[in-house]
Order: sequence, then C-alpha cells, then structure tokens
Amino acid sequence: MVKEWTKSSWKSHTALQQPNWPDREKLDKVIDNLALLPPLVFAGEIRALKDMLAKASRGEAFLLQGGDCSEDFSQVTAPNIRETLKVLLQMSVVMIYAGGKPTIKVGRIAGQFAKPRSSDTELVDGVELPSYRGDMVNKIEPTIEDRTPNPKFMLKGYYMAASTLNLLRAFTRGGYAALDRVQAWNQEFVVKSPMGRSYNRLAKQIDQAIKFMNTIGIPTDIPQLNQTQFFTSHEALLLNYEEALTRIDSITGDWYDCSAHMLWIGERTRQVDGAHVAFLKGVHNPIGVKIGPDYDIDNIKQLIETLNPENEAGRLTLITRMGVDNIEKALAPLLRETKKQGYHIVWSCDPMHANTYTSASGHKTRDFNNILKEITRFFEIHWAEGTIPGGVHLEMTGKNVTECVGGARNIVSEELHNRYDTTCDPRLNAEQSLEVAFQIADMIRQ
Ligand code: PEP
Ligand code: CO
Repeated sequence: MVKEWTKSSWKSHTALQQPNWPDREKLDKVIDNLALLPPLVFAGEIRALKDMLAKASRGEAFLLQGGDCSEDFSQVTAPNIRETLKVLLQMSVVMIYAGGKPTIKVGRIAGQFAKPRSSDTELVDGVELPSYRGDMVNKIEPTIEDRTPNPKFMLKGYYMAASTLNLLRAFTRGGYAALDRVQAWNQEFVVKSPMGRSYNRLAKQIDQAIKFMNTIGIPTDIPQLNQTQFFTSHEALLLNYEEALTRIDSITGDWYDCSAHMLWIGERTRQVDGAHVAFLKGVHNPIGVKIGPDYDIDNIKQLIETLNPENEAGRLTLITRMGVDNIEKALAPLLRETKKQGYHIVWSCDPMHANTYTSASGHKTRDFNNILKEITRFFEIHWAEGTIPGGVHLEMTGKNVTECVGGARNIVSEELHNRYDTTCDPRLNAEQSLEVAFQIADMIRQ
C-alpha cells in the first residue's frame, strides 16, 4: 500500500546535501518558529504561474527564469534587487516585442540562499572545514566557527526573502514596471553599448505605440501596461526549511510550499526514491528538475510519473543542462522518449551549469559563446524533434560584473578579476543578458 504523503514524509527517505546541523534542539526550535510565520507567497499566485507554464508547455508563452547562482545576505539591498529586476524586465520586453511571445518572469531570487556542494568538507591551509553551503547555512569565511552550520541563518533567510519580495511586489505593482518607463530601465553602463543601442531602438518603438494609443483615445491606464507579474523560485534544497513553509491552501485544501512560487530539484538531489522527490511530489507548486547529460531515460520516466502522475500541464519543467559538447547526443533521445509517452512538459534550457571551466587566470568562468551555442542548439534540436523549446534558466545579474568571458564587449580571461563578485558560479552581466535576450527573441519568432 502507498503511504499517504505528509509534509514530513520525506524524513523516511535519504536526504542528500543537508548540512550537518550540530545541535538538533536548536534546529527544531528554528523550524517551529518558521512554521508559525506567515507564508511568503500565496497559493492563488502559485496557481496563476502554473497556468502560465501550461501555456509555455504548448508554445504559447516562454519562461524566463534567472538570477544569482547564490544570493548573499550582504547583497540584499534596494539597488541590487532593483538592478536584477530591471534587467529581467528589459530581457522580457525584448522577448515579447521582438520575439512576439508572452514571457513568464521567474527570478532565482528571494530564497536562493542554499547550495549543493560536491564535498561536505574542504581543506583550507591544511585544516579540514565544512564546505560553505550558502548564507542560509553557514558563512563563507574559512574558520571553523563561521563554517559550522547555524539553523538561525534559515530564519534570517526567511526575513531576507520577505524583504526582497516586498520590494519586488512594490516595484512590479507600483508603477516601476510600467511599459511607458521601458526606456528608463536601460542602465547607464549599458546605454552606449551595442546591446544598449538595440534595446533603446526597441524601447522607443514601444513608447511610440503607447503614445499612439493615447492619442487616439485608447486608455493606457490599465494593469496590462502599468503592472507586471513577477514570480520567485529557488532550489528546494533544505528540506526542513521547505517543510516549515508548506501550508494548506484554504480554498482548495491542497498543500503548497509557500517559500516561493516555483521550486526546483537540482541535478544532485533528484533520486526517484530520495527525500527531495518524496517532499516535492506532494506540494502543488510548479516543480523544476535539472537534468544533466548522464541521465538514465528509465529513471527520468519514473521521475516524471512520480512528480506529475496526473500529467498536468504546467506542473513539471525539465531544465536540461547538457553542456555545449553533449547537447547534441543527449537531448534528442530524451525528447523522443518523453514525446512518445505523451508527457506534458515545459522544456527549459540551462546553458550555464555544464559549461563551467577554470580560466587561465584561475577564475571559475563560462564562455558567452558556449552559452549562446547551447541555447541555439536547444532550439534547433526541439524543432527537429517536433517538441517545444519553452524557456531558459540563467545565472545573471543586473550589475556590470566580469564573471563570464566573451559577449559583445568580449571580456577576456585577464579582465575577469576586475569585477568578479560572485561567491558561487559566474553570472552573465546586464549587457550579456540583454544579448542573450535578443538571440532568444530571434529564435522564438521563427
Ligand atoms: C544551480 O542551479 O545553481 C545548480 C547547482 O544547478 P545543477 O543542480 O543543475 O548543477
Ligand atoms: Co549555479
């Protein structure tokens, strides 16, 4: 007999990538505290996102998911939140206007504070320390005190997520995201670049269209022009935290993980019988699953049937991260088999995580050309297989960082140290992000 799902039934499965919390009592106290705090998002919003994702699975919308690899508490400031939102809004406008398809904006934001690691510990100057697992777990400074997991950081993470969300809601509802401000989103350091100029041309056209509507008396004071819907997401890694924020929706009686609208399971924690799958199969949020090139097709089929037994459109987004060298042979068989089974899936491309390497300068980086190439091949392979390329998943920032090489300004390895700010993976900067958006617009228009 199948045991009924509860929000703590994951505990009887193996949970990989969990911190070694040194003090269980302290952990329980924090979790009890979190469980009493208000949800960060509401079930109605989550359902709205799922409906939009159902459209993406049919090719009627396109998912744009992006943000930091790992958010830092120290970076939760108004300018940083605004810059990330701004570049996502810019990208979205490019994709809607030049690509002709509605976009679904989902930030890797307001909760992306925990990271999977390849090893539990690392050696620093001959001393073995717990690995840094993100600000919601421990601190990056290489001392035993700072690296010891502290459950109170989960509570801090909750408040950081709440204040980030508060500002995002204010920006997206309070006029900042209004389409007549589309030119104002262009950033100083981007304006004079080739991407900035292309963007400005497009922004001017949108401006003229709105003025024209005004002139002939079509009302422009409408939410479609003055507000935007923006959703949040993060990797559902710390299961104690996710459980504490999982609540019953009073309207439907269903369980929702109210820590974010969309949650994803990483490549390292997607075991069919593992705790992450056991937990997420019971919540009604849209779920993403990362898939790398070494997948086993039967295993993926089991995963799909476990996470989406009703084959509900919009429930499951498969985020392929094959790498430019493997996408050719790895993607098509996956698409073919899932198509044969008739699964409803949003296919999204993460062109970041399998294209990481260490540059001559010693920085962990990614080459912009490889990122573009993986996206392009993703579209082409979907077209060839008769399946639908439904979205992208990017690590990016609104700031002028130098973390990925290449792009219109052709950042070279020797320049990476100039503004290498990430504490985790290298991100596209604002200009590189815009360039990706123009490229995608070209492809979704086909
Ligand atoms: C990530 O998205 O930051 C990540 C760790 O990805 P993956 O699980 O695909 O390696
Ligand atoms: Co990453």
